Amino acid sequence: MAISSNLPLLPAALFLLLLPTSSVLATERERKTFIVRVRPDAKPSIFPTHQHWYESSLTSLLSSHDSTAATTTTPPPPPSLLLHTYSTVFHGFSAQLTVSQAHALHSFPGILAVIPEQVRQLHTTRSPQFLGLKTSDSAGLLKESDFGSDLVIAVIDTGIWPERKSFDDRDLGPVPPKWKGACVPGRDFLATSCNRKLIGARYFSNGYEATNGKMNETTEYRSPRDSDGHGTHTASIAAGRYVFPASTLGYARGVAAGMAPKARLAAYKVCWNSGCYDSDILAAFDAAVADGVDVISLSVGGVVVPYYLDAIAIGAFGAWEAGVFVSASAGNGGPGGLTVTNVAPWVTTVAAGTIDRDFPAEVKLGNGKVIPGTSLYGGPALAPHKLYPLIYAGSEGSDGYSSSLCLENSLDPKAVEGKLVLCDRGINSRASKGEVVKKAGGIGMILANGVFDGEGLVADCHVLPATAVGASSGDEIRKYILSESKKSSATATATIMFRGTRLNVSPAPVVASFSARGPNPETPEILKPDLIAPGLNILAAWPDGVGPSGLPSDKRRTEFNILSGTSMACPHVSGLAALLKAAHPEWSPAAIRSALMTTAYTVDNRGETMLDESSGNSSTVMDYGAGHVHPQKAMDPGLVFDLTTYDYVDFLCNSNYTVKNIQAITRKKADCSGAKRAGHIGNLNYPSLSVVFQQYGRHKMSTHFIRTVTNVGDANSVYKAAVTPAVGTSVTVQPDKLTFRRAGQKLNFLVRVEAEAVKLSPGSSSLKSGSLVWSDGKHSVRSPIVVTMQQPL
Ligand SMILES: *[C@@H]1O[C@H](CO)[C@@H](O)[C@H](O)[C@H]1NC(C)=O
Ligand SMILES: *[C@@H]1O[C@H](CO)[C@@H](O)[C@H](O)[C@H]1NC(C)=O
Ligand SMILES: *[C@@H]1O[C@H](CO)[C@@H](O)[C@H](O)[C@H]1NC(C)=O
Repeated sequence: MAISSNLPLLPAALFLLLLPTSSVLATERERKTFIVRVRPDAKPSIFPTHQHWYESSLTSLLSSHDSTAATTTTPPPPPSLLLHTYSTVFHGFSAQLTVSQAHALHSFPGILAVIPEQVRQLHTTRSPQFLGLKTSDSAGLLKESDFGSDLVIAVIDTGIWPERKSFDDRDLGPVPPKWKGACVPGRDFLATSCNRKLIGARYFSNGYEATNGKMNETTEYRSPRDSDGHGTHTASIAAGRYVFPASTLGYARGVAAGMAPKARLAAYKVCWNSGCYDSDILAAFDAAVADGVDVISLSVGGVVVPYYLDAIAIGAFGAWEAGVFVSASAGNGGPGGLTVTNVAPWVTTVAAGTIDRDFPAEVKLGNGKVIPGTSLYGGPALAPHKLYPLIYAGSEGSDGYSSSLCLENSLDPKAVEGKLVLCDRGINSRASKGEVVKKAGGIGMILANGVFDGEGLVADCHVLPATAVGASSGDEIRKYILSESKKSSATATATIMFRGTRLNVSPAPVVASFSARGPNPETPEILKPDLIAPGLNILAAWPDGVGPSGLPSDKRRTEFNILSGTSMACPHVSGLAALLKAAHPEWSPAAIRSALMTTAYTVDNRGETMLDESSGNSSTVMDYGAGHVHPQKAMDPGLVFDLTTYDYVDFLCNSNYTVKNIQAITRKKADCSGAKRAGHIGNLNYPSLSVVFQQYGRHKMSTHFIRTVTNVGDANSVYKAAVTPAVGTSVTVQPDKLTFRRAGQKLNFLVRVEAEAVKLSPGSSSLKSGSLVWSDGKHSVRSPIVVTMQQPL
């Protein structure tokens, strides 16, 4: 470090010293984290490493800042100015800078991008901002053979509880020789906490602590150990061992197993008490790829921004280039449209569906009416055949009742004592509302969805007898309480009947209410989410330090817990991807995704189009993408739509990104001249086809897609195209027969889509979908064709 700031004539130091003083005015002293993309070949040779170069550059930048503001008191710079340096999926560093410093840095040679950090959140429905839902679980695709045991799945999350049986290494062979990772010790976590199952563990907190100050080590571990539960849960969904018997508070009894029970796990902890910081997430991507993982599972997300400003998209691109499959949760912002996140086309974006298991807990009202609900409450039941007084904690106003959120200290024990309380969802978490009712002396809780939550129900491990009901049921119960209160004699009464675990539920799967929906806000020509997987009421491993409700006051301890969210759907696909890679080591991440998408199904166990839990209506491609994953079929898809880095660069060119923006994502120099000639954004060789037509008073619109399929089935095979056009469109495929002579052979085809204008008011749009299926009599290779008509304003 001796060669840092005392070499002012070095080119790197020089350009940083040439800051225009006006851009470092001491007006905004507040520092934020920025991620800086550097052209690696711009490093002056005098610096032995990129780290030396970055440190020196930052020292110069910050000291020049300080000298212009010599009269104000500036806190001393932190010991290392760098939060992280990146060298595998990304070249550059992260640091805390003022906005003007970041701005100044932007225009220097060698600096390709200065990206403001985003804070990401976990995609479970435990977080109160998310909506609730149902169940699903599909364990043990393959018997527990050695299958998949050479594959390593990285889980970028809240860390891991290594002592769980799900992470036992019995009967596993030695760690794969390619593994270069480490088991980084820290508080309550030893270098020996890893084993032949959990082969690596690291934690990244510099970004978190730069923004929040030092972490409070009484509430979280400065180590890979999981103080939240989310990371332990997602890791065991992806690759937990068979554990029998498994259950939570007696619910969902059976065998718990991850999708790839013999795959190895590596935990990368990036999520802390206040969220997951981009600078740390990117460091985890960098480390995971350098360590030699095969799959990265990421169940966190934030707001959608252009890919060149999105640290997750950038990290995932670098992983893709290294042949690593990245799956990410779609988010829990549903059921509204345009809510899908993690939409980069090199990421597999996973939405959530239910499974055929649920946990009914009905409400019986004093008037005899029985209302469906769901719960994982596991304590003493309410007295049988007894009805309890039922109250709504909202106050009565001119237009009925105000809402009753059951916030901390909001309930009057005199009014609540010995009663059932109806609470509304919102603001505080579902389980904490139960805690509030319990503290006030209430005997139980009925938790009603708000209008935005719709009819989707999430089961929770409540701390008192409680159940969740849909929005319309909430209305009905409120009406009942109101009408009873108008009578002089009667008072409202109710009870909750807990029914335990119900199996073989039909219909299933159903798209979970909370599951985030398309269209893709960044690139509507790429259908997102890509597919759905189980994400409602999923049983998986749980740490010791946290009760199943997640409340700090909850002292119950369970080996397993049941959670809901696209967070739980994503690791199902991560585990499946590992199995596919084990079966087909030569497949690229795009081939793996293609296999999952083209074999996905869109009908439920009644044989009808999957329903949307939020409305009870049929769901659409915007909810499920290509459909629900079908593990066995994905093993043998027949054909795949493959992709190369060049295809993605063409895609970015056709997205009209500048060459500099593209270089923030790809590490190669981009040349867009060829791509522009090659066509439009929808020509990315994606397994789904999506077009957005602007009507502009036209009667007929048309476009074409060029696609290339690779034969991964039998050497000699003939595929024929079958088209189901969307209503009001015509679709032709040329050629409509593909004759393959060998495995690995690629053939092209062209799909022309013509659509007639529809009546739309300005600014509105309509969505239609159909499909193209290539079939050789043995395989069906299905691509959705999505046609969106938009009437410009
Ligand atoms: C850390 O958290 C504990 C438990 O919540 C709290 O009592 C303590 O005051 C916190 N310490 C700091 C330094 O904030
Ligand atoms: C469900 O479908 C019916 C009939 O098409 C429609 O009227 C209704 O608005 C739909 N409900 C929702 C919530 O979309
Ligand atoms: C890119 O720019 C061209 C020319 O202005 C335009 O036709 C095309 O629609 C743009 N593409 C996107 C994805 O914005």
